[in-house]
Amino acid sequence: MTRPAPDVWRPLGHLEYLRTAVEASLRRLGVERLDLCYLHRVDPTVPLEDQVGELRALQLAGKIGHIGLSKVGDDQIRAAEKAIVVAAVQSPLNRAEPNDPALGYCVRMEIPYVPYRPLNASALPAPAALNWLLNLAPHIAPIPGTSSPEHLRALVRPL
Ligand SMILES: NC(=O)c1ccc[n+]([C@@H]2O[C@H](COP(=O)([O-])OP(=O)(O)OC[C@H]3O[C@@H](n4cnc5c(N)ncnc54)[C@H](OP(=O)(O)O)[C@@H]3O)[C@@H](O)[C@H]2O)c1
Repeated sequence: MTRPAPDVWRPLGHLEYLRTAVEASLRRLGVERLDLCYLHRVDPTVPLEDQVGELRALQLAGKIGHIGLSKVGDDQIRAAEKAIVVAAVQSPLNRAEPNDPALGYCVRMEIPYVPYRPLNASALPAPAALNWLLNLAPHIAPIPGTSSPEHLRALVRPL
């Protein structure tokens, strides 16, 4: 994703950009390999097989350990699986956005599923929102965000 203006996010799947983004993450993290690297969004203007193919090339070059996909449908997961092992799928899932058709496919195929925005200003207390997700199926790993140590303690307690 690029952010050409405040609050504007635009998918960019040009292969050169994907390579540059991986190199920039390696530099920022100070590591030689990204253990798990997601294609943040599928760019509808670039063939999916080219986008995951580029990540596969970076994996073969040792710069990526495992490849994940973000905000994809099960048809896109299936298409990507022709070129890569999909190690994780990250998508919005929470009490306010409770339906993701790709979840069933991930559960059946035992692909780890990572709900992003798992709290989404939920009417539920944060631990209950996380427990709701964790009880949906095995292989679910929500990634709540917080800027508060006190909230962090409340988030890890149910786990
Ligand atoms: N793949 C993607 O396209 C994508 C898109 C969006 C987000 N994400 C990822 O998803 C993760 C989480 O997203 P998010 O932070 O936007 O959403 P979120 O985890 O659903 O919500 C975070 C909000 O919940 C509050 N909160 C956290 N713990 C709390 C607690 N115990 N009690 C009360 N409030 C609490 C936080 O406030 P405080 O700071 O005050 O705790 C913050 O305002 C991030 O890692 C983000 O990078 C991925």
